[in-house]
Amino acid sequence: MQKKKAFFKEAVKNIKTSGTIVPSSKYLIQKMLKVVDFSKAKIIVEYGSGNGIITKEILKKLDKNGQLICFEINSEFYKHIQTINDPRLTVLNESCENIRFVCDKLNIKKIDCIISSLPLTNIPDKITEKILNQSYLQLKENGCFLQYQYTLTYFKKMKKIYKSVDLGFEIRNIPPAFIYKCKKI
Ligand SMILES: C[S@@+](CC[C@H](N)C(=O)[O-])C[C@H]1O[C@@H](n2cnc3c(N)ncnc32)[C@H](O)[C@@H]1O
Repeated sequence: MQKKKAFFKEAVKNIKTSGTIVPSSKYLIQKMLKVVDFSKAKIIVEYGSGNGIITKEILKKLDKNGQLICFEINSEFYKHIQTINDPRLTVLNESCENIRFVCDKLNIKKIDCIISSLPLTNIPDKITEKILNQSYLQLKENGCFLQYQYTLTYFKKMKKIYKSVDLGFEIRNIPPAFIYKCKKI
């Protein structure tokens, strides 16, 4: 897949689920991943991996004994991410609303960090609610849930789930994005 052009084509075709037409910028990715303590985070889950632009950066930082589980509902993106050859990576072509079921299947007790690019405002409320609540339950104490969004629509909802929610902002992204940094304390 020829990176940006291929992402654009696939994203436009599925604009409702992709929620954007360009992949995240390196500035946004750097800012998100700065929040993660990779010396401690061994089990990381990524929601909505797209063309794997964040996935690859997570793998660069992840402990050699770590594990990264990616959820991607788009079959073309899924096929593409599967070409990343790394024994620490598990790629699933299913919706992250199944996070609990997947954790049971993979025998994952608790997750250190969830990194999400989901277009929350485009997903039906019931499903978003399920994803956010199940994610909270699967996170370990002190675990973090990172989510970027182009609006602050979900800030209050996140605050209802997580006691600690900090906001970041990255202007060097199309469009500029907020980062919700939620901590389970
Ligand atoms: C905004 S794109 C992010 C792509 C990439 N991570 C990035 O930051 O450039 C959102 C991605 O979430 C995927 N997605 C949407 N709903 C999903 C769901 N319920 N479960 C898993 N992936 C989903 C879409 O197919 C799309 O690839």
